[in-house]
Amino acid sequence: GSLKDSYKNNFYIGTAMSLPQIHGTDAKSDDIIKKQFSSIVAENCMKSMFLQPQEGQFFFDDSDKFVEFGEKNKMFIIGHTLIWHSQLPKWFFTDKDGKDVLAEVLKERMKNHISAVVTRYKGRVKGWDVVNEAIMEDGSYRKSKFYEILGEEFIPLAFQYAHDADPEAELYYNDYNEWHTGKIKTVSKIVQTLKSRGIRIDGVGMQAHVDLKSPSIEEYEKAILEYTSNDVKVNITELEVSVLPSPWGTSANIADRVEYDAKMNPYTKGLPEYVKTEWENRYLDFFKLFLKHQDKIRRVTLWGVTDNQSWKNDFPVKGRTDYPLPFDRNYQAKPIVKKLIQLTEEK
Ligand code: G3I
Repeated sequence: GSLKDSYKNNFYIGTAMSLPQIHGTDAKSDDIIKKQFSSIVAENCMKSMFLQPQEGQFFFDDSDKFVEFGEKNKMFIIGHTLIWHSQLPKWFFTDKDGKDVLAEVLKERMKNHISAVVTRYKGRVKGWDVVNEAIMEDGSYRKSKFYEILGEEFIPLAFQYAHDADPEAELYYNDYNEWHTGKIKTVSKIVQTLKSRGIRIDGVGMQAHVDLKSPSIEEYEKAILEYTSNDVKVNITELEVSVLPSPWGTSANIADRVEYDAKMNPYTKGLPEYVKTEWENRYLDFFKLFLKHQDKIRRVTLWGVTDNQSWKNDFPVKGRTDYPLPFDRNYQAKPIVKKLIQLTEEK
């Protein structure tokens, strides 16, 4: 069996693709992707710094290949991401003197970028992360240049431009740590505002960069219910379960982390059994939750295929080795894959 076959009546099951995978130079990963996944998203190559490195000069080679891969394998193809403060080319906000552009100019640039990209893949990319990571955990708007120059309005504008370019495409707002109550409030308000103005939004993408402790299943469930009460679906995006403690916040201060890493790395003898068990249970608990709410969930997408690919390695400091994904560094399915498949058979 495979993940995609087992979950075909529940939701799409996807992965992010790296450049070597897109170019076919990581053939072992590609075999796994074709066999296991029904949806794909590009890990990097559809971000604005790659698609439009200079104003008006587009580079579509990588993303064309990505979309071709998805079509060839009959996958639900996702575009990530149109408007994001990160991995964004510097020219986007600046005039020729290096000063911030006026609101009208920024709107024009957003519109040009979104129209060019969405139009190129019209009818082929089925859903877009239109805006990514615009809200802080306390519910305030991130002080990005988009926000500084256009205020809250940049979000409705981005959705409108995307919809104009491909009226059939699903449109999503995507963010991390979206179980924080402040974020829930503001993101829900964004959804409501778009809906009340008749602007299309289909879903909230809930990034799931989780670890062994945080968030709790209850918190995550509450957030799913809150978002979907606004008549949108939830996409579980960017899922991986890190075995390392979060480098952020007070619960894992730097000293704890260094001590923990020293104990765990470089994992010459492999992961301790108790960590493996905790890690599997986290995946199982999350997937049980997703199955429980399958009518509210459009897609569950892992952020990569094998541990080797994960951005969690060497993050946020070099020397960290992580084991967050269901396939190991030798391209073998870990036991969790079979267990996730069995979950669908229990019902
Ligand atoms: O393009 C350069 C390349 O020229 C250079 O040779 C290479 C050397 O390290 O770096 C390349 O850039 C890297 C880029 O990925 C493309 O591979 C950057 O250093 C690296 O920082 C960047 O990381 C990506 C990160 O987004 C950037 O913020 C990760 O791969 C990607 O997994 C990660 O994905 C994000 C989601 O888009 C949004 N949510 C959070 C998630 C994790 O950070």
